[in-house]
Amino acid sequence: MNFPHTEYGIRRQTHQNMLKKILKFPQNFLWGVSTSAYQIEGGIINDWSEWEKSESKIKKLKSENKNPEDFICGQACDSYNKYEEDFDLAKKLNCKAYRLGIEWARIEPIKGQFNLVEIEHYKKVLSAAKKRNLQVVLTLWHWTNPVWLTQLGGWANKKVVDYFINYVELIVKELGQDVDFWITLNEPMAHIGFGYIRGNFPPNQKGKLLNAIRVYKNLVKAHQMAYKKIHQFLPYSQVSFTSLTDYFEPANKANPFDCLAVILARYFHHRKFFNQVVKSLDFIAFDYYFHNRLSWHPPFKVNLNKEINDMGWEIYPKGIYHVLKYFSKFNKPIYIMENGIADASDCKRSKFIIDHLKYVYQAISKGIDVRGYFYWSLLDNFEWAHGWIPKFGLYSVDRKTFIRKARPSAEVYANVCQKNLIEID
Ligand code: BGC
Repeated sequence: MNFPHTEYGIRRQTHQNMLKKILKFPQNFLWGVSTSAYQIEGGIINDWSEWEKSESKIKKLKSENKNPEDFICGQACDSYNKYEEDFDLAKKLNCKAYRLGIEWARIEPIKGQFNLVEIEHYKKVLSAAKKRNLQVVLTLWHWTNPVWLTQLGGWANKKVVDYFINYVELIVKELGQDVDFWITLNEPMAHIGFGYIRGNFPPNQKGKLLNAIRVYKNLVKAHQMAYKKIHQFLPYSQVSFTSLTDYFEPANKANPFDCLAVILARYFHHRKFFNQVVKSLDFIAFDYYFHNRLSWHPPFKVNLNKEINDMGWEIYPKGIYHVLKYFSKFNKPIYIMENGIADASDCKRSKFIIDHLKYVYQAISKGIDVRGYFYWSLLDNFEWAHGWIPKFGLYSVDRKTFIRKARPSAEVYANVCQKNLIEID
């Protein structure tokens, strides 16, 4: 890759007498790790925990020769109790920021009744992060819902926006002082796609298009109102949502139908939602995992898959550059809130991180205002419909003892965060 000469790029001699190129990131670049409440806290009762236990789900898993135990979140990583240890691990990685989630179902287990004990718990959590000098990125909703909400129709019910805003208001008043960045919603389009179109997430409503549209409208409104609500109490706060942004390109650039498939995919996958809320964003936050080469006819997705992760997802670092370039036109600071790899043997993770950062650096050197990078994830955690099988963590977690153990890539990331640079050949 050819980097232009910028103030950040310099070359230096290494002990092997080889020229290594050093790519230095801007001062104050925010290095972090991302997590979510349901995936690590444990002991939560919400729509996911109930769905995992449902007869139909268990029957399906058995029919696929899968062990249902591997798909129960249960105590997760016990981060509800081990949050201080987790923050210490983030500090060991030399991270300056930590993204965590709040679980709505804990705060409001019964409609209209807020659990003050849990509020106190989260106060302790946030102040433990602040005590360690970590900037806090707080996600208010990461796909999971209180059971009562699901019984009322979930995000398809119009009233959900009011319910959500009541919860947001409480969080802002009680916890707001310790929050540096707010994420109102995590990847709303994924909730719609998996929950209402494919049906492999709760509420498991495969092909319910009308509901999908209702949910879409309510999520747009929920973000807009949450944005206002947070600013009402904390005028200088930084608020956004995370967009799951795949990099789509046509399988055959000369084929107009493949090109059309890409335009439609981009529009429905992330641009439509993003455009509707862009006025209510103080910064842009996106998650990058996927590259998709699309054709207009089956099998539609024709990736080259030269390199894949443990889940079969193609590894395509250059895509992050294209996504950054796209977002740069909105003239807002950009944060990569998730980027990571399922790699149980840890043989690809270090390279994965460095390769993506090369392209992040390239974007910065072209003047794109990228302010931070958060690796997903600190720990091996509950990977939704894939259960406990994929391992995204810089730290592995023993499923019985919850003991965390650094993978070799943790040291690589710690060095990057400490030195604020990457070295490439
Ligand atoms: C989600 C995470 C998930 C990760 C890896 C992201 O889209 O926000 O919750 O664990 O992807 O699948």
